[in-house]
Amino acid sequence: MQIFIDTAEISEIEKYAYLVDGVTTNPTLLAKLGKSCSIEEVIGKIAKIVPGPISVEVISETCDGMVMEAQQLAKLSPNIVIKIPMTEEGLKAAIILRKLNIKTNVTLIFSANQALLAAKAGATYASIFVGRLDDQGTNGMQVVRDSLEIFNNYSMRTKIIAASIRNPCHVLDAAKIGCHITTIPPAIISLMIKHKLTESGLEQFINDSKNFHQ
Ligand code: E4P
Repeated sequence: MQIFIDTAEISEIEKYAYLVDGVTTNPTLLAKLGKSCSIEEVIGKIAKIVPGPISVEVISETCDGMVMEAQQLAKLSPNIVIKIPMTEEGLKAAIILRKLNIKTNVTLIFSANQALLAAKAGATYASIFVGRLDDQGTNGMQVVRDSLEIFNNYSMRTKIIAASIRNPCHVLDAAKIGCHITTIPPAIISLMIKHKLTESGLEQFINDSKNFHQ
């Protein structure tokens, strides 16, 4: 499974660059950085740190607007993937962008039918928001499971991203069902790395090694 990092925070991306295959951002994550630098500057910096795909979202709501924005954003780096919302206009834009050889990540997907349509539109990635579905009392991972089954039935090339990850169990579940990619916030990556028994075990080994050498 590929691991993307779900943040626009440069220091966090630098911290985990050795581990991740790509980056996903969204307007909320970019807004958290404040107004100190432009989107272009942030994305330019990220592209220098991570050689893999970097998702950047359009803010236009019309197909034409999305395509225009996407063409500008795509100039920032060859690794740019354009995040397109799962709307009628978004699907039309994804079809056009595919013809223009611009990679897309159809975002805000909450059902397997939406994922199917994103794949039909030729999206490179389909982002299913697992955590937000769970928050509503719906099983988000079931949507990922159903979408994987559909994509496998028809050998669809679109890669599914398990997004809106809230805890390490989400990552584990996504990996167990064979989800192609999971995009993970830095705090959850940190939780995945650490284990109390690793820490106490290491402390004991270090102490025992010191005693042995004395
Ligand atoms: C995905 O690409 C999104 O950036 C992200 O996973 C949204 O998650 P949230 O529900 O934590 O905002």
